Amino acid sequence: MSLSKKVVLVSGANKGIGAATVRQLLKTDIAKIYTAARNPASLPDFGDARVVPLKLDITDAASVRSAAETAGDVDLLINNAGTMAFGDWQSSSDADIAADMNTNFYGTLSVIKAFLPAFTARGSGTIANVVSIVGLAATAPISGYSASKAALQSLTQSLRASLAAKGISVVGIYPGPVDTDLAAAIPLAKVTPELAAENIVLGLEKGDAYIFPDPLAQQVGHLFATDGHQLEAAMNLGG
Ligand SMILES: NC(=O)c1ccc[n+]([C@@H]2O[C@H](COP(=O)([O-])OP(=O)(O)OC[C@H]3O[C@@H](n4cnc5c(N)ncnc54)[C@H](OP(=O)(O)O)[C@@H]3O)[C@@H](O)[C@H]2O)c1
Repeated sequence: MSLSKKVVLVSGANKGIGAATVRQLLKTDIAKIYTAARNPASLPDFGDARVVPLKLDITDAASVRSAAETAGDVDLLINNAGTMAFGDWQSSSDADIAADMNTNFYGTLSVIKAFLPAFTARGSGTIANVVSIVGLAATAPISGYSASKAALQSLTQSLRASLAAKGISVVGIYPGPVDTDLAAAIPLAKVTPELAAENIVLGLEKGDAYIFPDPLAQQVGHLFATDGHQLEAAMNLGG
């Protein structure tokens, strides 16, 4: 898609992949970008007049409704906000599992439902969901998070199928480990949020339906396309 003169919204824009994606998008000639955060005071100064800070807690129905009313002109909705609890199914509390599901799946779903009427009325728009490689095959040490991202992947696929005829594109973004607060406890080599963001924006510009924004993610993407069983094993190497 051409980003030229587009109006974009990025949720969870105050840090990590969200903030890096905002900075990368500001290098293009987008018209406006809503930088959405549940606490707008936590947003950095992006130093660009096209930035419009917006309050959005994706798990709060009133906040989602209000953001959709304010930002009815969005062309590209990037659902980046997310949480991650550590633990396999035995060690994770029900509360931690529910929290990830509430944010990553139900929260994202409610944002999409709130913004869809404006997209549908215009007969255009792009919804880009930041999933994860673990949404394509689970990793046991983050079982609940994997399930929440698998649900988001399912949502991404079914939306793509149902919205194509309405002129609305749906994109999945599948990062591997990225050096952010969320991934602080992941004991793997990580890429910078800036590298991930650069490849996310490149993928959006190319019109990719599946964006794998780092080298590990690209390997996962290859296995996803060619050998799902091997992918499942590779995601759980080392037990
Ligand atoms: N880092 C990785 O290795 C990795 C890999 C694959 C996918 N991802 C995904 O990438 C996305 C961004 O994560 P990140 O790595 O950049 O982590 P991060 O730096 O911790 O950022 C997470 C963002 O989500 C926001 N958020 C959480 N709950 C929210 C809610 N209810 N409403 C609105 N915003 C909320 C956070 O806001 P607060 O600051 O207010 O908490 C923060 O802005 C997530 O969806 C994550 O699952 C990350």
